[in-house]
Amino acid sequence: MAFSFLRKRSSRVQKVTKTDNDLTKYLTTSLQPDSSGSEAYRSLRTNLLYSFADDPPKSILLTSPGPGEGKSVTCANLGVVLAQADKRTLIVDCDFRRPTIHKLFGLKNTWGIADVLLGGRKLQEGWMEPTPRLKVLSGGYIPPNPAELLNSRHFSEFLASVRDEFDYVLLDSAALAVVTDAAIVAVRADGVLFVVDAQKTHKRAVQRSIRSLEAVGANVLGVIMNRVRATEQDFLHYDHIYTR
Ligand SMILES: Nc1ncnc2c1ncn2[C@@H]1O[C@H](COP(=O)(O)OP(=O)(O)OP(=O)(O)O)[C@@H](O)[C@H]1O
Ligand SMILES: [Mg+2]
Repeated sequence: MAFSFLRKRSSRVQKVTKTDNDLTKYLTTSLQPDSSGSEAYRSLRTNLLYSFADDPPKSILLTSPGPGEGKSVTCANLGVVLAQADKRTLIVDCDFRRPTIHKLFGLKNTWGIADVLLGGRKLQEGWMEPTPRLKVLSGGYIPPNPAELLNSRHFSEFLASVRDEFDYVLLDSAALAVVTDAAIVAVRADGVLFVVDAQKTHKRAVQRSIRSLEAVGANVLGVIMNRVRATEQDFLHYDHIYTR
């Protein structure tokens, strides 16, 4: 891996079936901690830990302009390396439309953030701990109105309630171009990490998306270049590609 780095579902429980693609192979940082890919995630972690030393962002949204650009894979691996560095980390799958985080960790999506927000479960009942210091809260019940749920007072209260318990809360979301969910979460999070697929994301889409995030007052921390060939640069500050 060269990451330059870097429906509504009707049933309450999403079962992991044999027909599901096995996504656990993308959890490089756990499977192959000595690989160059894992090293790239550790570089991302270093950038995150030391670029904002004075005012470290705690709740961080990962989003991208379009679908399939690596938001969930990046979110899961970043969570693992933060936990490996003794940071108490919570990953929350806020992509209710296509929840993926549980699959990357080989977990079942039995209960999740939606159940917590809707009052059906306590937070501690919903999360799982696939590795020490890393808690994972999957999507859970797919609400008919994801944007409304993310826009609710309950979601803001949830973010406030986990601030003391965790050093980092990583929020995986849908793509910006697909639905408004990510923009809604962006203004509630301390910062946004913008994931770009080096092999398919268009520069104009990046510029447009970052402008739209900044227009709503989101704090764009930087851009993660995913799936970059090994010779290319690992982590770019978004100024490098953000030209007005
Ligand atoms: N660093 C990587 N190395 C190799 N393959 C990758 C990498 N990142 C993503 N992929 C491939 O791209 C697919 C989509 O990744 P991922 O689910 O993280 O994207 P996403 O942006 O979260 O998608 P969605 O918009 O559907 O939420 C993965 O299943 C995997 O096949
Ligand atoms: Mg995803």
